[in-house]
Amino acid sequence: MSARVIHTVAEARAAVAEAQKRGATIGLVPTMGALHAGHGSLIDTARRETDFVVVSVFVNPIQFDRKDDYERYPQDIATDAEFCSARGVDVVFNPRVEEMYPQPQRSFVEVEGVTEHLCGAFRPGHFRGVATVVLKLFNIVQPNRAYFGEKDAQQLAVIQRMARDLNLPIEIVPVALVRERDGLALSSRNRRLDAAERQAALMLSRVLFAVRDRIGAGSVDAAQLKREAEAEFGREPGLRVEYFEIVDADEMQPVERVAAPVRVAVAAFAGSTRLIDNVLCTPPAASH
Ligand code: PAJ
Repeated sequence: MSARVIHTVAEARAAVAEAQKRGATIGLVPTMGALHAGHGSLIDTARRETDFVVVSVFVNPIQFDRKDDYERYPQDIATDAEFCSARGVDVVFNPRVEEMYPQPQRSFVEVEGVTEHLCGAFRPGHFRGVATVVLKLFNIVQPNRAYFGEKDAQQLAVIQRMARDLNLPIEIVPVALVRERDGLALSSRNRRLDAAERQAALMLSRVLFAVRDRIGAGSVDAAQLKREAEAEFGREPGLRVEYFEIVDADEMQPVERVAAPVRVAVAAFAGSTRLIDNVLCTPPAASH
């Protein structure tokens, strides 16, 4: 069956209300489109766990800190709708910017602490834009469960924190990061990479996996691990690293010693395309 593509808040509310009347549980997968197997994994999980699956496709202007990134963001709703239909999605919610922001937005969600480092330090206003649009989507769709990828580990932490802090009656479900066979994390932005940039981008996962191995073998000194990683990145002139950090898995604060599971996270530019990646690393003592 093909997914129903709807464009207005009123239609979204009506479709959900009708499903709820039948007793269906609602799953929401928020996306910005250009769907790939990473999004597919979120959708498949939602399909298994809930009765009525809504995928939102909305390139949210208020979360972009760079105009060129917003304007170049790939958009193709027909292809995305087909992708969703093939995966059994019930509704694709694809509002226009004027539908989501009919008047200048004056209310924002600010999640403190978890947004201090990593992308939060380099993309001013980004997580405020993300948290705000996600809360709007939650209020429009009123899902029982909402699905977020570990690809964006800090975003996931922000949404989990928002849900707890604001008593949202929604279960936030994390979904594992999906990679290409060669290690590259799937991303809508990958399609902007030329062959040389894509090759350079492989260094991200390569370094992260090496750090994971070092932590697994007992390395605990974060500064030392960072120095080793930076030396490795230095050998790839096609990448410009923005940050490489080792943070605790919940609060996203840099650690000095790896004594519990940590997120090792990196952001880097390949050409003009900004890529992020991360791995969860567990020290030997914490793994059992
Ligand atoms: P977008 O980048 O389209 O991602 C939508 C969801 O797909 C996010 O939860 C993201 O973590 C997940 N995702 C993307 N690539 C993935 C991969 N390789 N493996 C697993 N999951 C992956 O994130 C956003 O959109 C926006 O910020 C949004 C939450 C929709 C708010 O506008």
